[in-house]
Amino acid sequence: MISHPATPLRGIAEVPGDKSISHRALILGALTVGETRISGLLEGEDVLATAAAMRAFGADVIREGDGVWAVHGVGVGGFAEPEDVIDCGNAGTGVRLIMGAMATSPIRATFTGDASLRSRPMGRVTGPIELFGAASYGRTGGLLPMTVVGARNPVPVRYRVPMPSAQVKSAVLLAGLNAPGETVVIEAEATRDHTERMLAGFGAALAIDDTAEGRVITLTGQPELRPTEIAVPRDPSSAAFPVAAALIVEGSDITVPNIGLNPTRAGLFETLRDMGADLTYENMREVAGEPVADLRARFSPEMKGIEVPPERAPSMIDEYPILSVVAASAEGQTVMRGVKELRVKESDRIDAMARGLEANGVSIEEEDDMLSVTGLGPKRVPGGGEASSRLDHRIAMAFACLGMGAKAAVRIDDAGPIATSFPVFEDLMNGLGARLARSNR
Ligand code: S3P
Repeated sequence: MISHPATPLRGIAEVPGDKSISHRALILGALTVGETRISGLLEGEDVLATAAAMRAFGADVIREGDGVWAVHGVGVGGFAEPEDVIDCGNAGTGVRLIMGAMATSPIRATFTGDASLRSRPMGRVTGPIELFGAASYGRTGGLLPMTVVGARNPVPVRYRVPMPSAQVKSAVLLAGLNAPGETVVIEAEATRDHTERMLAGFGAALAIDDTAEGRVITLTGQPELRPTEIAVPRDPSSAAFPVAAALIVEGSDITVPNIGLNPTRAGLFETLRDMGADLTYENMREVAGEPVADLRARFSPEMKGIEVPPERAPSMIDEYPILSVVAASAEGQTVMRGVKELRVKESDRIDAMARGLEANGVSIEEEDDMLSVTGLGPKRVPGGGEASSRLDHRIAMAFACLGMGAKAAVRIDDAGPIATSFPVFEDLMNGLGARLARSNR
């Protein structure tokens, strides 16, 4: 993909449904007897892989229309043993949550994924599910392909999540669903809480206490989940791309409607406002217990680099790639600390951003746990270079946005991964005024 400097971005950007919530809706629907109806489901490759996996575990998963799906589940503990390998594609959330969900049923399943997923650590999930009585056999280093043998007589677990990870927390809670008694998960820093909210929505007994040691979540096992209707909100992590592009492309003024501003997800928008972005929340309202707003973003030539508060990292963990693109256009240094989890995402996102920014004339500094970008402000990002997307949708979209605000086009070696989370990205951005083109080189 080649991203030429954009014309002013203007209009309404209707971004797709939330990826995190979409995975969870399908998985919890599959664990519920009766019909769970879902609207606004993200129909990206990651979520479609989870839908296929839920069918393989015995649920009926039916697409009824655009984003409208029905799931007839098998109930807690009702998963059947899949007849074939479960291929989760590029989706870390998919594979880790599904491993948790099947770990306390007396079945075994073998999981694999694409080259990116096969290089990502699974030990962070197999460790805790072994405490329930499950076993796992993967490649050296806890890598996929991996077979998980579910516990025949699961015991409940008390587990302190050692890194800030909503995927690990969620895997433990989903495993706890089919263990008798109380499963307790403790997280030192709050991460996205969609699993907790959705479990409560399906009628599970769940208590959350904020204590000196962190957030303590207590789940009572073996509940009878009640089917429900889920309207998936639009994804703030996808909204981040048109918002960021509008801030750095001269003359832009866009609105991104209906974006969830759950505090565990909204860290990027707060950070952009701290940098001086002209980003406003319009029509603030509450939908299904979540704060929602229309985001209005306008060209912001006055943005300044800042030190991003490290405690904000869990609420914007997927947004550091696009933040570093905005930082390249702001004036002065933006320092991002406490970000070493970025090294084990779909790619090593610190390295991917550092190399691609350098190739396009932006200076960076990098440590194991830190990325700092020296913004060019009014001098503008030169562009003219190539960036490698490394099987990582957010890296591909971040560099597409870099090209929109740069002096010369930015080339991305492979835009294919964008389809995992934002299949309409190219058309949507070009509809606003971007100039994304495909190259045959
Ligand atoms: C996610 C959690 C985060 C995030 C990922 C989605 C989730 O991963 O990066 O894109 O839906 O729970 P970690 O749990 O590894 O931080």
